[in-house]
Amino acid sequence: MIDAERLKKNWSLVASHGDQVPLYFYSTLFLTHPETRDLFPMNMAAQRDKLVTALGAVVSNVDTIDAVVPTLQALGRDHRKFGALRGHYPAVGEALVATLEHFSGPHWTPAIAADWTAAYGLVAATMADAADAAAHYTPPWWDAEVVAHERIDLETAVITIDPGNRIDYLPGQSLTLCTNLRPRVWRHYTPANAPRADGTVELHVRAVDGGEVSTALVSLVRPGDTLRVGPAVGNGLTLRPGRGPVAMIAGGTGIAPMKALVEQIAAAPRHTTLYWGARSPAGLYCIEPMRALAAAYDWLDLVPCVDEDLFGEIRSGSPAELAVAHGRCAGADVYLCGPPGMVESSRKHLVGSGIRAEAIHFEPSGE
Ligand SMILES: Cc1cc2nc3c(=O)[nH]c(=O)nc-3n(C[C@H](O)[C@H](O)[C@H](O)COP(=O)(O)OP(=O)(O)OC[C@H]3O[C@@H](n4cnc5c(N)ncnc54)[C@H](O)[C@@H]3O)c2cc1C
Ligand code: HEM
Repeated sequence: MIDAERLKKNWSLVASHGDQVPLYFYSTLFLTHPETRDLFPMNMAAQRDKLVTALGAVVSNVDTIDAVVPTLQALGRDHRKFGALRGHYPAVGEALVATLEHFSGPHWTPAIAADWTAAYGLVAATMADAADAAAHYTPPWWDAEVVAHERIDLETAVITIDPGNRIDYLPGQSLTLCTNLRPRVWRHYTPANAPRADGTVELHVRAVDGGEVSTALVSLVRPGDTLRVGPAVGNGLTLRPGRGPVAMIAGGTGIAPMKALVEQIAAAPRHTTLYWGARSPAGLYCIEPMRALAAAYDWLDLVPCVDEDLFGEIRSGSPAELAVAHGRCAGADVYLCGPPGMVESSRKHLVGSGIRAEAIHFEPSGE
């Protein structure tokens, strides 16, 4: 029997070595199995590594694997877009065990080695089986043509892609995208529309400083270009069933999933208040279409807000603070989306104001 407690302890010891851990892992993997190098991005910034962190955390939690089987299956299916095949899993497992051994020093024992190998085998089999099964009915990714690219300002673009009516997603879910301008680098972006009959998807992209993918999407991508699109992910922001009121709190491009959710709610209206915040009025980059939606739906109230408006025409304050102050969150399902710092501070404010944590819905940023 695998001693999961011992694995968790061992992982926290190893993880305390920080960026050295992914560095050692990838050096080992690429040296011993050079064929895996082509699956990974050119630039492997250790501080952003998700694979090694996930390997340690997921594999050492093998005692609760039953609870995460659906997540592991989705992860395995999603890994097809990286080109990860069943044959690659042993290489990653060997590099993981070699890395753990290296950083465990005198704490490494044959029993721990055997437990890690067995636990990795279980996780890897769950992912690889799901990936093999998915190969019978869905491609690893879809090619989507950019059919419109509206550059709103230096930082922001609204991009419409046409994946040809093939991508299933729910409003609030995200898609991962990859442009051949940044090969093998995938990032999440959230559709700003509920699924349409013609299959087109509107994306709102904000270029972050020094951002590899977002700057390319905003400044370099043009109509006619092709983007790769991975399967829809995340259920944090999908609409919870019910007839009660909804409060939406968005910052910047966090308006995208809210717009998609509003389109979904229109089919079975519930009272909805949408607080949308930005630093300045210019940051409310699609305010006119949002005002048009609010004018068309009597169940939708839109409250734009900014940190500061020199002309005093738009309310000042953070969207979360205003939503709480106006009493729109108590008893409502609250949906929250925006830059990672804003989501965290809004969530704290809501909980601190007595809103039940279970009523606050958001997608972990993964940053
Ligand atoms: C579920 C989910 C949904 C998302 N939906 C959208 C969306 O609809 N529109 C959108 O524009 N973005 C969205 N993002 C963020 C997006 O996936 C990328 O993280 C972002 O575009 C930066 O990628 P990059 O390659 O340009 O930057 P990177 O090269 O990865 O990072 C460059 C620098 O910017 C920092 N950074 C990374 N992301 C952010 C961020 N969001 N805010 C501030 N600093 C950051 C990094 O820490 C790093 O220092 C979403 C993220 C998640 C997890
Ligand atoms: C138990 C096995 C594995 C687990 C738990 C795991 C987990 C993860 C996770 C959580 C991510 C981040 C995903 C994201 O950001 O969307 C990731 C990325 C990735 N994984 Fe895996 N993975 C496993 C096995 C493998 C294997 C066998 C390969 C193939 C060599 C592989 C290749 C990749 C690649 C190429 C990335 C993207 C890396 C990047 O962009 O920096 N993984 N993995």
